[in-house]
Amino acid sequence: MMRSDTLPDRLRKLRQRLKNTIDDRNSGLDDAAIRAAYARWAPVYDMVFRAPLYWGRRAGVKRVNEFSGSVLEAGVGTGMALPHYGKHLKVTGIDLSEAMLAKAESRVRGGGLDNVDGLLAMDAGNLAFPDASFDVAIAMYVITVVPDPVKVMKELERVTKPGGHVILVNHFSAEEGLRAQAENWLERYADKVGWNPVFPKARVLGHTNLVLEEDSSIPPFGLFTMMTFKKPGL
Ligand SMILES: C[S@@+](CC[C@H](N)C(=O)[O-])C[C@H]1O[C@@H](n2cnc3c(N)ncnc32)[C@H](O)[C@@H]1O
Repeated sequence: MMRSDTLPDRLRKLRQRLKNTIDDRNSGLDDAAIRAAYARWAPVYDMVFRAPLYWGRRAGVKRVNEFSGSVLEAGVGTGMALPHYGKHLKVTGIDLSEAMLAKAESRVRGGGLDNVDGLLAMDAGNLAFPDASFDVAIAMYVITVVPDPVKVMKELERVTKPGGHVILVNHFSAEEGLRAQAENWLERYADKVGWNPVFPKARVLGHTNLVLEEDSSIPPFGLFTMMTFKKPGL
């Protein structure tokens, strides 16, 4: 049988597997650094990230709108998704950054978004909600910027009702090919940009009882992925 992997490919995969095993945390990121980074981003965030993150946000909101009941948007940021949730839903947004939340609050006030139940300063890794509080929990472009992605997955699972859904929209790194090479090269700048381009799906899979129902790449460029999980129980 022919092996298509070259030696550098195999070494890179081995290095990545070791790294995943050792490092379930996002090194270099902590709450204080995240708050400071997003206090700087808040004034220009919408201008810079509206277009590049548009398609994923659109896909995430569309999926949420298929469900009913209560929704938690973790890492709601400046609230760019909030005006697009269906009026049949009750949405709660949380974020670690008060500066980002202040932008979200003025968006809610200005847009008369009365399906937004509340915006709260909170750590997605330590949610102040009781178990089984929400029908749907969604985190868009968040899981790669939190210090402890596994803790966040466990919290999203905990606060979701049995039979409810957890949705992630994010960039996940490629396993091989040109994109994988580019992401590995970019990783050296991760601390400077506050985002790690090398973040394989394995880091969010298998740590909870959530069942992956759908895993789709988001058009037009397929750089982002939407994963829909179901919490067993119903
Ligand atoms: C890249 S932004 C995405 C914002 C928004 N979801 C969007 O689609 O534009 C990441 C957001 O996650 C928030 N965040 C980072 N770590 C967090 C944590 N541990 N708990 C809650 N929010 C967090 C940041 O403050 C920031 O607002």
